[in-house]
Amino acid sequence: MTDPASTSDPDSGIPRPAVRYARRRFMTVTAAATALAFATNLPGRASAADVSGGGLSGDPFTLGVASGDPLPDAVVIWTRLAPQPYEPLGGMPYNAVTVQWQLAEDEGFRRVVRSGKAAAQPEFSYSVHVDVRGLRPSRYYWYRFRVGGWISPVGRTRTAPAAGARVSHLRFAVASCQSWPDGYYTALSHLSAENADAVLFVGDYIYEYGISASGGLRDTADPVPDQFRTEADTLDRYRLQYALYKSDPDLRAAHQTTPWICTWDDHEVQDNYAGLVSRTDAPIEDFTVRRANAYRAYWEHMPLRTPAPQGPDYLLYRRLTFGRLAEVNVLDTRQYRADQADGDLWKPDNPGRDDPSRPFAGAQQRRWLLDGVRSSTSTWNLLANQVVMSRMDLDASGTATYNMDAWDGYTHEQQLVLDGLAGLRARNPVVVTGDVHAAYAMDMKRDFDDPRSQTIGVELVGTSISSGGNGTDVSVNGQNFLDHNPHLKLVNERRGYIVVDLTPVQLHAHYRAVPYIDSPGAPISTIASFAVEAGHPGLNRV
Ligand SMILES: [Fe+2]
Repeated sequence: MTDPASTSDPDSGIPRPAVRYARRRFMTVTAAATALAFATNLPGRASAADVSGGGLSGDPFTLGVASGDPLPDAVVIWTRLAPQPYEPLGGMPYNAVTVQWQLAEDEGFRRVVRSGKAAAQPEFSYSVHVDVRGLRPSRYYWYRFRVGGWISPVGRTRTAPAAGARVSHLRFAVASCQSWPDGYYTALSHLSAENADAVLFVGDYIYEYGISASGGLRDTADPVPDQFRTEADTLDRYRLQYALYKSDPDLRAAHQTTPWICTWDDHEVQDNYAGLVSRTDAPIEDFTVRRANAYRAYWEHMPLRTPAPQGPDYLLYRRLTFGRLAEVNVLDTRQYRADQADGDLWKPDNPGRDDPSRPFAGAQQRRWLLDGVRSSTSTWNLLANQVVMSRMDLDASGTATYNMDAWDGYTHEQQLVLDGLAGLRARNPVVVTGDVHAAYAMDMKRDFDDPRSQTIGVELVGTSISSGGNGTDVSVNGQNFLDHNPHLKLVNERRGYIVVDLTPVQLHAHYRAVPYIDSPGAPISTIASFAVEAGHPGLNRV
């Protein structure tokens, strides 16, 4: 892993902004010096006005940089200007600000291949999303931004392989669920060193809940400010939540080293919401506004290619192709679903869950998914999925009990998708999932009632980065799952992520975990590994 923090700019000898940040403090760089360093590589030298700092009250790059949604010839690079991230407008003056950006083939920016300017607008909280085109496939690139005399940390990204290319190896990291007050993002610090081609982040990037002054399980040096006590519902409050989450140096470093492919689950808006149905049954007109606020704030803080949502709807499901080796179908099973059957929780089997009129992914997304996998020419077809798709029976009381918030609560679409994937065995479906704060490895069965029925693919459920605190190896519920779900091959409830290595003949899934997150610095270890042979669905423990 190349560490962009480790060297000086060869053109100027000036130390470049560090990848690693002191906790809860933000890296600042001598303004005039960095302006000079950047200007040496820009077309024409910066004007005096450009290097003045733009009238900003401090370093505007406190939230770091990010990249995402790599294509063979393009990648999105992101930042958001916020010199005072917990103040209204992030402490920015109320006018559009021009941001310069560069993308280079080398860490020292001697070979800048693309550069330009972007407008950071107050209505989008000064976020910048640049879809940098004209790049070469399967390449590392380095990027940075500049405003006035301020220069951003240097991010590293990587483009996807060319369409149709025979790719010998890809590595994805699967992560989800990073409740800030639940503990440190130690797992993300290890993920940054995995050298993944991309992170698949499958939901709960933030949690909407109010945050106490003490910062929960984190040992905060400073009290969390008063404006964080309430649950996020307004646009400004959601923005604050992202600013707090991105104050974490390990999260910023993970974005800085690897492109992310993101989707949301519920907590980016509200726990267990469904479509336009609030968990608290708020009037639909009120929840529509809240969802619009949340979706806007999500877009503002993620390296997404598509334009900002202008209302309560946003087309998030999409497909990314990595040569002939892998295709990633990014799902959104939150926006289009009907309300949960019989409430939100784990409930005994009930007829509501089988009601065919209740959408989950929705007919349009479901057709898009199955048509895409059917026409895919990639060996491995990944589904970046929010909530568990396979049957999970929590049979603690002798009565079949299912999660009404997962695919199990919407069995009509669950079976349609399983049947659809079953007909595409050669396409090697691999579902990667978050939500449950536990690592699972599952064979996906054509008929979960019959362990001998066809295995149609595998589902790899990452645990959480932090949600749930330290966790445990296997809880009582975890043991219940193991006892009553023969397709389930692993339960572990420590914090961590999955590394998925793909070759044309084999998948290897390595489940990584840390022993604690209530203090920093825990080591990472591999708690289990599985192999899947291409063309032969099913998990083999290695
Ligand atoms: Fe979660």
